[in-house]
Amino acid sequence: MSDLPASTPPAPPKKVFVKTYGCQMNVYDSGRMVDTLAPKGWQSVETPEGADLVILNTCHIREKAAEKVFAELGRLRGFQAERAASGGRMMIAVAGCVAQAEGAELARRAGNVDIVVGPQAYHRLPELVARVEALPAGRAARLVDTDFPVESKFDALPEEASTRGASAFLAIQEGCDKFCTFCVVPYTRGAEFSRPAADVLAEAHRLVAGGSIELTLLGQNVNAWHGDGPEGGPWSFGRLLRTVAEIPGLARLRYTTSHPLEVDDELIAAHRDLDLLMPFLHLPVQSGSDRILAAMNRRHTAEHYRRIVGRLREARPDLALSSDFIVGFPGETEADFEATLDLVRAVGFAQAYAFKYSPRPGTPAAEMKDDAVPEAVKTERLARLQALLGEQMAAFNAGMLGRRMPVLLDRPGKRPGQRLGRSPFMQPVHLEAPAALHGRIVDVVIESAGPIALGGRLLPLDEGARPAA
Ligand code: 5AD
Ligand code: SF4
Repeated sequence: MSDLPASTPPAPPKKVFVKTYGCQMNVYDSGRMVDTLAPKGWQSVETPEGADLVILNTCHIREKAAEKVFAELGRLRGFQAERAASGGRMMIAVAGCVAQAEGAELARRAGNVDIVVGPQAYHRLPELVARVEALPAGRAARLVDTDFPVESKFDALPEEASTRGASAFLAIQEGCDKFCTFCVVPYTRGAEFSRPAADVLAEAHRLVAGGSIELTLLGQNVNAWHGDGPEGGPWSFGRLLRTVAEIPGLARLRYTTSHPLEVDDELIAAHRDLDLLMPFLHLPVQSGSDRILAAMNRRHTAEHYRRIVGRLREARPDLALSSDFIVGFPGETEADFEATLDLVRAVGFAQAYAFKYSPRPGTPAAEMKDDAVPEAVKTERLARLQALLGEQMAAFNAGMLGRRMPVLLDRPGKRPGQRLGRSPFMQPVHLEAPAALHGRIVDVVIESAGPIALGGRLLPLDEGARPAA
């Protein structure tokens, strides 16, 4: 017989559904928001239906961001009404960069938003949710928290849940001081902030202990990371990479997204020395025209970018590159655009994203005269650039045919028996593999190559497959 007091049965978990838009930083933040709520009895669910809280983690980087959020809020009304009809309540929170940039407007215009919370205030989410829960249901609470608080959210957030899967993100840096003239990030995410090395290393150790074998270090300007090492003294990003790479059990290391100006000797040496550091780098250049690069305030030339790429490839000859491009920036001439095509031909990209320029409210470029490039020309340039990048990507993928490579199986495939993994170069690889191999690195021979993905065959052990890392 126990003499413990009779306890009431535990309350069923409350359900939170998070919809994530935009970059990997948002994917990471969505996980952390769930982490803050978990100790208060919240459990993450896969659909909005029946959820007690829906969080839209929004992106403001390109046009129609706010419109997309309003459309989604409209779609959620039906679910909210259903919950209300059955005596329940579905709270809605808008988080992310649209929340930060247009918080007040959102709260005013959207009749069904309870919470607007900016990326620097996620540690206060449980308190905001509790305040809404204490209010009578039936009216949107419209609480707005978009402050940039003095305390760092990284210090105030609870430890992440112990497992994040085989491939995990780890935010090490946030914000940006570069002020490229087209970009909202310095306004929505604030000034550049690097987490102390000791915190990063502690989180990395926890993730690996929880079963992650690949870590992707995240930051808006990740290679601008700098900090004091655990024993004091300044550490560069290259030094941090070296130290993370020593964690026993870690098999792969990546980082994103980086800036060409912050690629220093130590980072190049890390690419030379660290086998764990995967041979794939997203290094956005945006344009190949020096005139446009200057107008964008990128603070480097096309030649500088080529030189950096040359040095990185000398250090790591199999390094595959990826980039972002903007076409139709205010004042872009045909010659400027041709310079971008030249740079693409000279560098050769394994992957790339090209966007039509869209003015973002509050950014310097939005004030620039933008009549040099008619919309039809922007559309045509985007198509030309995408065609060239598509050719390069297809050629890069075709070059993998017949090659043997380690693939990290991190997702189920489309068909039963199929699994999806990632090559060292970030290509998705489809193959037949038993579910028991989920989360492992297996040896695969590539048998088909499409424009985006590869198809492969799992090598049986007797063909030399290594045991998974
Ligand atoms: N218009 C078009 N593309 C943009 N990007 C950022 N801001 C804008 C804008 N105003 C692109 C850049 C960046 C990527 C994340 O989004 O290419 O690298
Ligand atoms: Fe935006 Fe430029 Fe900062 Fe990248 S470096 S986040 S493009 S301002």
